[in-house]
Amino acid sequence: MNILLIGSGGREHAFAWKFAQSPLLKKLYIAPGNAGTAEIGTNIPVAVNDFAGIKNIVLEHAIDMVVVGPEVPLVAGIHDFFCNDSEISHVAVIGPQKHAATLEGSKKFAKEFMIRHNIPTAAYFTATSKNIQEAYEFLETQKPPYVLKADGLAAGKGVLILEDLAEAKTELTEMLSGKFGDASKQVVIEECLHGIEMSIFVLTDGKSYVILPEAKDYKRIGEGDTGLNTGGMGAISPVTFANTVLIETIETQIIKPTIQGLQKDSIPYVGFIFFGLMVQNGVAKVIEYNVRMGDPESEVVLPRIQSDLLELCVAASKQQLADYTVSVSPQTVATVMLVSGGYPDTYENGKTIQGLSNVTQSIVFHAGTKLQDNAVKTAGGRVLAVSSYGTTKEEALQNSYESIRHISYKDMYYRTDIGFDL
Ligand code: AMP
Ligand code: GLY
Repeated sequence: MNILLIGSGGREHAFAWKFAQSPLLKKLYIAPGNAGTAEIGTNIPVAVNDFAGIKNIVLEHAIDMVVVGPEVPLVAGIHDFFCNDSEISHVAVIGPQKHAATLEGSKKFAKEFMIRHNIPTAAYFTATSKNIQEAYEFLETQKPPYVLKADGLAAGKGVLILEDLAEAKTELTEMLSGKFGDASKQVVIEECLHGIEMSIFVLTDGKSYVILPEAKDYKRIGEGDTGLNTGGMGAISPVTFANTVLIETIETQIIKPTIQGLQKDSIPYVGFIFFGLMVQNGVAKVIEYNVRMGDPESEVVLPRIQSDLLELCVAASKQQLADYTVSVSPQTVATVMLVSGGYPDTYENGKTIQGLSNVTQSIVFHAGTKLQDNAVKTAGGRVLAVSSYGTTKEEALQNSYESIRHISYKDMYYRTDIGFDL
């Protein structure tokens, strides 16, 4: 099969690495890809939201399946674009259509879906400029900290967690008057959940699903989970506290009702679902749905999948997932993200990365890199995800940290405490 992967991050490099192991793969293309994916397949410089450009690639290279990495093209309707064009409607697309992608594209839609289908989640209130007094009253019923979420996509920046009620009211007012543009014209105010976060992933054909390994990611820039939120500074799979009982509870109370809810609401879904969870005393609640795999979670989840992921994607596209199970490595995989100095605020691109070929005990997934003048240069806030196997999490982490000693570029930064809380 000829496959086109959409995206340019560590997640897409991990997919490329995994698909390259499949006997089903003939040619792999990545749009736009990075310096890492260029070693596995052919990068084509077309942006993830350039649907006409993507169509041209599909026709020119006889693509059989498109696998969509990031949320933006899904929420913008890339799958619908394929369904509605007779020249490409035969091509399989992994990633849901626009309706289902609204589970990530609108927090309000996701909350209403969860309530309708009895899926455990935080209490909430949807604020608009028309009900601001009621919104203040809802805030007054909550204990601090106060959780405010822009309804729409805000590049991971749309969630504010505030200690002070007056500040929460001020921020709410600013959000509703456009702090995050149209994304915050509606704001979901949530009860604050306590516990420890983890994520679990499924691949579904809309009726059946396979559960993929769970993972925990580390979102804050600073040691000990402090400082600004990032796209993710590291991840580990498995999550030590996620025992069989917890996973079964999550399957019964969250995964099954979600898949059944999609069917009841007549919402087709072919692709990955990312359940962001908060777990306390063996009880899991959904913080958010993402309609794609996580990044950097993919850099630990995919290396643990022993089954042929491409074969599973084909089965999903043919509504045949019921016939499949997934075999998973018992090993731990940890990834540590190397970022550009200054990230998640401003940072510079174009720094030459050295030492990649000296890494032998880890897989280095490129997250934000580019080939230029025969050198690999930094091209993003998150630059490289250094993933390693180990029989324990300590061993996996030690392998990653040892590999990192070989890699350098100007202003390189990473967290030294990934996994500290497990
Ligand atoms: P989200 O974009 O919805 O994943 O939110 C970003 C982060 O904010 C999550 O990973 C959590 O750490 C935190 N968060 C979101 N919602 C809640 C909540 N209701 N209670 C506590 N923390 C939350
Ligand atoms: N690591 C979180 C995400 O992919 O959204």
